[in-house]
Amino acid sequence: MSAAAHRPATEPAGAGRAPMPGLLGPLNPPFAGYRGRRVWVIGASYGIGEAVARDLLGRGAKVALSARRRDLLQAVAGGNGEALIAPLDVTDPASVHAAADRIVAAWGGFDLALVVAGTHEEMRGRVGRGGAAGADEARWNLEGARRLLEVNLHGVLNCFDAILPVLERQGSGGIGIVASVAGYVGLPKALIYGASKAALINFAESLYGDLRPLGIGVYLVNPGFVDTPLTRKNRFAMPALMKAEDAARATLDEIAAGAFEVHYPKRFTVGLKLLRLLPYRLQFAAVRRVTGG
Ligand SMILES: NC(=O)c1ccc[n+]([C@@H]2O[C@H](COP(=O)([O-])OP(=O)(O)OC[C@H]3O[C@@H](n4cnc5c(N)ncnc54)[C@H](OP(=O)(O)O)[C@@H]3O)[C@@H](O)[C@H]2O)c1
Repeated sequence: MSAAAHRPATEPAGAGRAPMPGLLGPLNPPFAGYRGRRVWVIGASYGIGEAVARDLLGRGAKVALSARRRDLLQAVAGGNGEALIAPLDVTDPASVHAAADRIVAAWGGFDLALVVAGTHEEMRGRVGRGGAAGADEARWNLEGARRLLEVNLHGVLNCFDAILPVLERQGSGGIGIVASVAGYVGLPKALIYGASKAALINFAESLYGDLRPLGIGVYLVNPGFVDTPLTRKNRFAMPALMKAEDAARATLDEIAAGAFEVHYPKRFTVGLKLLRLLPYRLQFAAVRRVTGG
């Protein structure tokens, strides 16, 4: 009987076989391109996820498109025979598992799952009109805070719960998680959004250590400002604003090159990374000066 036949059902096919990267070279295994690859994009109905799904279809990938709005997903697929529509709500674990089951039934598995879905609501740690919050609408709001965490954090965990068994069974493939540079440092009006994204950054960092030795890639995507329905609600000038198509291209190119962290545009994100390294006294002063507090 072969070694594979002796392997317990919970042990992935590639367990313990992937060499960990050395000091140089990419942290994830690079691959030649997306043609014929099976990619599940969660949050594909508009915004960055839509641009990623369209780009992937253009590169000849098989793409499973997920989000709540089936009609929009169908419009993105545009009748392409390589597209598979798998609607879900990330806050509903049963719908996420049902979508994963559908994809596995159709394709036998997937090579990459990208969790893009997220939401945004401005919030500050101040309460009440006439109080410290004044006329600012970005006030503390417990319900809003819970809503944000439900989608941006628990929603990603619901997706992970459905993705992990498939990747472990395969002993190959990868998971990409879209967080944000708002998770690097505390920014005004991003009280809970930033916290949800900081949690995802930490989650992806821990996950890398768990999954990379199993031959599974982990990708952390930290965009700066990208022009989408989410950011069109912002009432301030967004520095280094990117087109969603450019964000999609950078995401897919850097994942294929084997990056762990994909961040863009560099002229914006590198500055924020440096800010993170400053002692708090200097960091707080710099954030206040740049954002106006
Ligand atoms: N745009 C930026 O500048 C920027 C910067 C940094 C990070 N990000 C992150 O990048 C991701 C995408 O942002 P975006 O700007 O493209 O946002 P967006 O334009 O609002 O698009 C959000 C996507 O997520 C889906 N979605 C939202 N709630 C969902 C739910 N409960 N279940 C399933 N799908 C859900 C939406 O589809 P349905 O409504 O059809 O469900 C849509 O496809 C988010 O995680 C965001 O935090 C964005």
